[in-house]
Amino acid sequence: MKLKSIFQGLSLGFAIVAVGCGSGSSPQVATTGEGNKPGPSDIKIGYIVKQPEERWFQIETMFAKKCAAENGFKLLEVPAQDGDKVMVAIDNLNAQGAQGFVICTPDTHLGPAIMRKAESYGMKVITVDDQFVDADNKIMVDVHHMGLSADKIGQLSGETLVAMAKEKNWPMDQIGVCLVTFEELDTAKVRTDNILKALLAGGFKETQIFKAPQKTTDVQGSLDAANILLTQKPNIKYWLVAGMNDTAVIGAVRAMEQRGFTTENCIGCGINGTEAVEEFKKAKATSVTASILMRADEHGFKSTEMLYHWIKDGTEPPKDTRTSGMVVNRDNFAAKFKELGVPID
Ligand code: GLA
Repeated sequence: MKLKSIFQGLSLGFAIVAVGCGSGSSPQVATTGEGNKPGPSDIKIGYIVKQPEERWFQIETMFAKKCAAENGFKLLEVPAQDGDKVMVAIDNLNAQGAQGFVICTPDTHLGPAIMRKAESYGMKVITVDDQFVDADNKIMVDVHHMGLSADKIGQLSGETLVAMAKEKNWPMDQIGVCLVTFEELDTAKVRTDNILKALLAGGFKETQIFKAPQKTTDVQGSLDAANILLTQKPNIKYWLVAGMNDTAVIGAVRAMEQRGFTTENCIGCGINGTEAVEEFKKAKATSVTASILMRADEHGFKSTEMLYHWIKDGTEPPKDTRTSGMVVNRDNFAAKFKELGVPID
């Protein structure tokens, strides 16, 4: 799998310094390294995640820790499921002497507040997975980011679903698509918009594709969203299921199962791979038929490694780093995970 890095402009003036501007105090960087640079053991990095219960974030954190162990710095893991927890976490990280943090925030609108706080402490920040947005809802492209290519991944998920549906040979006019959406989050919207495009390109009509908006991005959130749709569309005989990640698809599939749907009349394709694995491992196939395996390992390792070198050597990372994915299913998941060195137990 290739990791594609893209530099997005910004040549001059990225004054990371932001030290000593008023209120906060900069972390004290000890200097056991060469010259006045910090040595590895002087460096502490926070890893803040929005959904610590999701396997995606567990694997990311596992590989962030691997990066810390290999390089000899300290990684401070921080679960932060809401905005208050994020703000407290940053204060705590500063108090513990962390010089920066990688974050997947529970709310992307917190971006400006998070950056203000981080800068007041002189901390460096890399966002992982979800990009910050400003008060005008625009992506904060000046904040260094590592994430997936949401458009391409959405397209691949949609195309995979179309191919799987064709194999089933179900009567086209009796198929409905349950597209679980979470449009408040940019990466989620770009993924589901591109799934939709791929379905249209694959011959599905707009009138047979139904959005099921999630209120929360956990299994319960997508189960509830799909239940509302199923109540509204009781006559649909065959369902295709897609969404921004595996969790979205798993929740919707659970709702379908509760109404008697099986692999005979319902199939779905997720994104992440990390949660779909549990479905693939089951003795009996479920309607979570495939997923796009993304690089939680690389997101965790590389984002942390980039931040480490930025703190230690002053090497500014690329502004925007994107990863790609591949299709996994019951037949190939074990081999693919093994190839990446990502555990499936
Ligand atoms: C979002 C989702 C996660 C995962 C990442 C990948 O944060 O909530 O499940 O898909 O994106 O970058």
